[in-house]
Amino acid sequence: MIEIFEAIKQSAIEIKHLIETGDTGKSELENSTGDTQLKLDIQSDKIIESIFSKVPSIKQIVSEEQEAVVPLHQDGQYLIAYDPLDGSSLVDVNLSVGSIFGIYEDEFTGKNLIASVYVVFGPRVEMVVAQTDVKMYRLLNGEFKFIQNIKLNEKGKLNAPGSTQNCWAPYHKQLIDDIFNDGYRLRYSGGMVPDLHQILLKGGGLFSYPGTTDRPKGKLRQLFEVFPFAFVFEKAGGQAIDGFDRVLNIATTHIHDTSPCFFGSNEEINRVKEVYKANEK
Ligand code: AHG
Ligand code: MN
Ligand code: MN
Repeated sequence: MIEIFEAIKQSAIEIKHLIETGDTGKSELENSTGDTQLKLDIQSDKIIESIFSKVPSIKQIVSEEQEAVVPLHQDGQYLIAYDPLDGSSLVDVNLSVGSIFGIYEDEFTGKNLIASVYVVFGPRVEMVVAQTDVKMYRLLNGEFKFIQNIKLNEKGKLNAPGSTQNCWAPYHKQLIDDIFNDGYRLRYSGGMVPDLHQILLKGGGLFSYPGTTDRPKGKLRQLFEVFPFAFVFEKAGGQAIDGFDRVLNIATTHIHDTSPCFFGSNEEINRVKEVYKANEK
């Protein structure tokens, strides 16, 4: 596993350089979810694939930017699903973005996730690794230095409500309004990596990306986005649910499947569960 973390660090250093110097324009291509790919999406994907292809313990990889699973080393033990540059459309307005990695064994499914890593590219580059606990590292003079463990409080102060508000269910709108009426502050940049990183570092709160009338299964992808962050939140003492149950219990039927998702500290997630249960159809 150490060699995988080292490979991710190397990819982070190369992607940092790409973000700083690369062309933020669109390519001619779309990914499997139908998003127009930016040149940065494709280039960061290539950086990671090329670095991972040299790591013998990686059996297969699958990227948000590629249609299918790519076999790497037959005798490898680990399967990695990754989003090479989440929030890539924010680079041209100079907001923070990230890379997300889920490390699986045997099969790409939530219950087989054994570690996850994300990298935030902001004013500083930070890497967070979740295994039995959650550790944060920062890039300083070309090397990642350990900074702190991350642990959520039982209750936080931040609310990050995602998706298109006029497509929300009335009970979801009521829930978000009630949370704001209780004094929570809005923190939403449109990049899940910095938005979730902020909640993790400021002790807690709620990030939601619900199912909506235009996207009943939400937008965020299970293998590359939802599961890796669910693992981080659970190991930090919080929860990640689809409104009802742990997202990590979802059985993935297709590698690009999405799911409604809620990440947060215990008090906020329990509140979501109560509201969703009361409105279950
Ligand atoms: P990507 O750039 O990989 O397609 O993902 C962006 C995601 C995520 O980072 C963010 O939380 C969400 O899209 C924002 O969506 P809305 O603008 O619909 O809230
Ligand atoms: Mn993404
Ligand atoms: Mn992406």
